Amino acid sequence: MTRLAILASGSGSNAEKIMEHFQNSDKAAIALVASNKTDAFVLERAKKFGVPTYTFTRKEMDAGKLLEKLQAEKIDWVILAGFLLKIPAELIRAFPERMINIHPALLPNYGGKGMYGHHVHEAVKAAGDTQTGITIHLVNEHYDEGKVIFQAATPLTPEDTPESIAQKVHTLEHRYFAEVIDSLI
Ligand code: GRF
Repeated sequence: MTRLAILASGSGSNAEKIMEHFQNSDKAAIALVASNKTDAFVLERAKKFGVPTYTFTRKEMDAGKLLEKLQAEKIDWVILAGFLLKIPAELIRAFPERMINIHPALLPNYGGKGMYGHHVHEAVKAAGDTQTGITIHLVNEHYDEGKVIFQAATPLTPEDTPESIAQKVHTLEHRYFAEVIDSLI
């Protein structure tokens, strides 16, 4: 049974869809949900699915505590789903081509440091783009620059707001993320 860990810093709507997808899988299990925020709602969602949780600080992560935990839990793949801290190189090297992230835009556009959540959707709106989308990519040592595995787009109209853009993006994420993970592992 392949063991997956989800890292998230916020609400965790993607994490919930992934836990739902693998709940009765005979191929893989969500073995851990970990967060750098002790009040992240994703931890509540994990409890609902009976998935063990783990919280840590940036300092602990940089000191190797998270890697220790992932290795102790015999984790095979690490899924970043709304995780906002930069992953230390040592941790990326411990999961070669086995750490993936979802980004709420069509990379290489609107990626990089500081480009997350509403900042992305506001930039897409300000640019007057006629479409946006999601990118699922491998994690390497540069923000949002890892090999792209999957992209999906959705059309935008001038009436769209950063909030409606965010909703359209979430719809795509919830539609595809779990399936893409399942096709990869
Ligand atoms: C998602 O839009 C994801 O693309 C981005 O952060 C957001 C997390 O949303 N990296 P949620 O916590 O899964 O609801």
